[in-house]
Amino acid sequence: MNATAAVAAAVVPAAGRGERLGPGAPKALRELGGVPLLVHAVRALVRSRAVGLVVVAAPVDGVAEVSALLDGHGLEGKDIRVVAGGATRQESVRLGLAAIPAEVGIVLVHDAARPLVPVEVVDAVASAVRAGAGAVVPAVPLADTVKRVEPVPGGPEPVLDTPDRATLRAVQTPQGFRRETLAEVHARALAEETAGDAGALPPVTDDAGLVERFGGRVVVVPGHEEAFKVTRPLDLVLAEAVLARRRASDAY
Ligand code: CTP
Ligand code: MG
Repeated sequence: MNATAAVAAAVVPAAGRGERLGPGAPKALRELGGVPLLVHAVRALVRSRAVGLVVVAAPVDGVAEVSALLDGHGLEGKDIRVVAGGATRQESVRLGLAAIPAEVGIVLVHDAARPLVPVEVVDAVASAVRAGAGAVVPAVPLADTVKRVEPVPGGPEPVLDTPDRATLRAVQTPQGFRRETLAEVHARALAEETAGDAGALPPVTDDAGLVERFGGRVVVVPGHEEAFKVTRPLDLVLAEAVLARRRASDAY
């Protein structure tokens, strides 16, 4: 498949350490059903006809290992490239984006830590960008009530207020962008950082957040409960259960 303006490219930030998951290999290389999280995530992307190229941002000292891993998991024939990631997720995405050919018009950004995203979500995000949105995020309503607090390590923490749950969404990936929208906000954030701008804000935890920071419009499309992020040990237990259910119910 060729990377052209009509086909999207995906950046997969996979350079995190996974500290909240506990000791062990970098999170993207931890296994789910005997297969690394990263391989699940890349498979989920290449299963979409909308995706023609995947660029993985690997841990700096893990580029060769990650390349070998992807080669060994039946993804041959797909256009998959591996670059060194950065110190923050934002930097990893920027470095991945820089490896995408100029003619690619749509870029998806998908966490390696979301191994079970259904292909329908990937397709829906890419279609929304193709239909004209500059920035698209998949999201789900919240189950829990949320409170804003004054953080106090160890607590008790004073409650500031309770946002109306009906207006809140938990956002997932892949997030989709017109390439120039994403490239522009990353370039602006980098320029602020390198200028040592006193007003430069901390790195964002999602790319749509960067678009919002610079006044861009972001829209939400329905996500999926199985697109959850593997963050803590319990998430891995849940992911194993979801995978076992899929394997039992179809030829997954
Ligand atoms: N990520 C990255 N580069 C970094 C930090 C994070 O590419 N310097 C990636 C992670 O590999 C992950 C995604 O961003 O796929 C989402 O981040 P998160 O869930 O926070 O993963 P980690 O940073 O690895 O986990 P933790 O914060 O618990 O250390
Ligand atoms: Mg992190």
